[in-house]
Amino acid sequence: MSSIRRFGISLDNDLSEKFDVRVKKKGYSNRSEAIRDLIRKDLVEQEWHEGGEVTGAVTLIYNHQKRELLNKITDIQHNFQKVIISAQHIHLDHHNCLEIIAVKGNPPDVQKLTNILKAIKGVKHGTLSMSTTGKGLT
Ligand code: NI
Repeated sequence: MSSIRRFGISLDNDLSEKFDVRVKKKGYSNRSEAIRDLIRKDLVEQEWHEGGEVTGAVTLIYNHQKRELLNKITDIQHNFQKVIISAQHIHLDHHNCLEIIAVKGNPPDVQKLTNILKAIKGVKHGTLSMSTTGKGLT
């Protein structure tokens, strides 16, 4: 376990009060835990900008009855085997499907895959959850 360093933070009252409201609303047990989370979030964003190895999940909602849509989505995934580590298809109802694609690789490839999938006609909603391999975080 890494050792702990303590430091003080100066904030004006207004910002401090807003932060305390957020801490309480989000259910953090204390300010330190909330600040640790903010720092980790910033470090993960930096990983995505600097282009190391990242992980994440692409989620898609689409109607499988639309012609050729399922084939297109599958073809694209075959072209991105380098970054796709797993995929799960869930039949939400009679028409709608949820596809969750776990990704690991460099940020431009992951972003490209996401953009291509989201742009397919018939995909109702697509998101990319940007995460980390966790190697650089404690
Ligand atoms: Ni389905």
